[in-house]
Amino acid sequence: MLGFVGSVLALFAFVPLLVFVVAPIFRKFIAGGVCKSAAKLNGKVVVITGANTGIGKETARDLAGRGAKVILACRDMAKAEKAACEIRTTTGNQQVTAKKLDLADTKSIREFAENFLKEEKELHILINNAGVMLCPYSKTADGFEMHLGVNHLGHFLLTFLLIDCLKQSAPARIVNVSSLAHHGGRIRFHDLQGEKSYNRSLAYCHSKLANILFTRELARRLQGTGVTVNVLHPGTVSSELPRHSAILDIVWKRSSFFLKTPAEGAQTSVYCAVAEELESVSGKYFSDCKPAYVSPQGRNEETAKKLWDVSCELLGIHWD
Ligand SMILES: NC(=O)c1ccc[n+]([C@@H]2O[C@H](COP(=O)([O-])OP(=O)(O)OC[C@H]3O[C@@H](n4cnc5c(N)ncnc54)[C@H](OP(=O)(O)O)[C@@H]3O)[C@@H](O)[C@H]2O)c1
Repeated sequence: MLGFVGSVLALFAFVPLLVFVVAPIFRKFIAGGVCKSAAKLNGKVVVITGANTGIGKETARDLAGRGAKVILACRDMAKAEKAACEIRTTTGNQQVTAKKLDLADTKSIREFAENFLKEEKELHILINNAGVMLCPYSKTADGFEMHLGVNHLGHFLLTFLLIDCLKQSAPARIVNVSSLAHHGGRIRFHDLQGEKSYNRSLAYCHSKLANILFTRELARRLQGTGVTVNVLHPGTVSSELPRHSAILDIVWKRSSFFLKTPAEGAQTSVYCAVAEELESVSGKYFSDCKPAYVSPQGRNEETAKKLWDVSCELLGIHWD
């Protein structure tokens, strides 16, 4: 009898300990790094791709909260207008707008950039955040494999079209959202469009490696311009990213307690965009608001240069 009472009492002590002590410590651990900068962005102009949901939306909310004029560059305008409205309400910043950008269509990218350059004189922060993962084999409007087309080539072209504006607005920053998954990537120059063999997990990894190599080469080319470019892994974040895999989508939703929230996942993007100590840091890879380890493939200068040339060729642009 005494043993039973003892067990019940122990249970009563254990449950609150678990709920009020262990769980918050665990959640803080999962949340990872936090951007501690209190930098204000009044008068600054920010473009964030894929900002109608997930990490992009929370990045937009944070930067709007700091006073920036924020443009949500999105393909789904109904979702984007809703997100913009929500961010205006929660931050009190009325300078948050949604504009059409489909990274799977170079015509749409060119139209977005053309309209932006007509409407805005300056661009201080460009966050290349949008991404797709685990897509069944498909191609963009221009015939690029979807992961490569959206995650890498779309952002490559967008940055190219906005680079002069960024230079004229210096100091300015470009932030590329990559992933830890870049470690599994290779740049398969002999089959960039995955026509000979295709694996959707690897296609995502390859495109995220391309983000790292693009950052490396762009940083080299931007030296002395006052424009920096850095790349990051946001952590494992509860978002709509696994939407193309029914199984992973369910697993993601069921295990959200063990994943970062989108606001937690946005911290490293915000850090790269505003942290005072990164003012002249360029070409680096971050995770949890601190420098992180880049795979050997991501540090290969020759591959970075070759990818640059091939990307220009595929997009029909000259970018010296
Ligand atoms: N979640 C993670 O655990 C994780 C881990 C590592 C890296 N990342 C990276 O973080 C970034 C943001 O992902 P997330 O987790 O926030 O995913 P998400 O919730 O799925 O958000 C992705 C965003 O990209 C947009 N997008 C997709 N295709 C597009 C296109 N063709 N044109 C324009 N926008 C497009 C989506 O718009 P729609 O809503 O219209 O589709 C959405 O706004 C991605 O680059 C991803 O690779 C995420």
